[in-house]
Amino acid sequence: MNIRKAVIPVAGKGTRFLPATKQIPKEMIPIINIPMIHYSVMEAVESGIEQLVFVTSSGKETIENYFDRNLELEKFLEQNGKEKELNLIQNIGSMIEIITVRQKEQLGLGHAINCAKPIIGDDTFAVILGDDLVRSKKPVTKQLSEVSIANDNKSVIGVMEVPNLDTSKYGIVDGEFLDSDKLTLHMKAMIEKPRPEDAPTNLATPGRYILTGEIFDCLDRIPRGVGGEYQLTDAINMLAGREKVFAHIFEGDRFDTGNIEGFLNATVEFALRDNATKDIMMNIIREKIKTYGI
Ligand code: G1P
Repeated sequence: MNIRKAVIPVAGKGTRFLPATKQIPKEMIPIINIPMIHYSVMEAVESGIEQLVFVTSSGKETIENYFDRNLELEKFLEQNGKEKELNLIQNIGSMIEIITVRQKEQLGLGHAINCAKPIIGDDTFAVILGDDLVRSKKPVTKQLSEVSIANDNKSVIGVMEVPNLDTSKYGIVDGEFLDSDKLTLHMKAMIEKPRPEDAPTNLATPGRYILTGEIFDCLDRIPRGVGGEYQLTDAINMLAGREKVFAHIFEGDRFDTGNIEGFLNATVEFALRDNATKDIMMNIIREKIKTYGI
């Protein structure tokens, strides 16, 4: 069965982007002219998701407004013959149904996902973390959905190889590769942010998951984990003890836009990959190299 629902948690405070995030949700900070959350929602749309749950907190209303229509602006653009701009603002909100639920306390990613339980119910659903953008031929959530569908709609964790020293930044999976598919593992365990010496593998999730409804029962039972927070990773680890869970090495380039370095990297890279901005960015880089003698 196709995966039709997705959860995108957007309740975080975004402290790494202060002072901007004092007033602007970090998800609304743009890479050039496109807010980061737009990429996550497009990934969902292009993966066949029909219903999206934003887990929000106070101060995140701009995100809901962004995906709603702005009739006044539409009228203005129409009257001024700005068709291209009109298309840019009209399309995305109409492609997907968006529902918001509030996370009243910031008790961790696991707690945030659990807030979506009344809407998701028993369905298998996707989770997309907006701090990581993935550019790929096929949207990464679609890649994982296909693995789930091929395996009885079971859970699939999207993973990538990271340097051994970086395991403490991620949820890390352990498991055995399937004979039939050398990019997919039958997952045995998942550990949140292990030290390199404790990490069973260097296969890390950048926040892409397909999960069965059974995850909610696990989320209800896990104790607080790393950082005193309810960790989604701990619930997935419990889930793997109850039913089959898979991990899949996805195709694509991933950008960690949750910190300033990754954000700058994505900005330059996205400009270089877009025909409209490629030459502009190349010229800027050439000039900078001349000026600073790098
Ligand atoms: C969260 C998850 C972690 C995952 C990471 C991806 O951590 O808990 O398992 O690898 O997102 O970005 P956070 O970065 O929110 O600390």
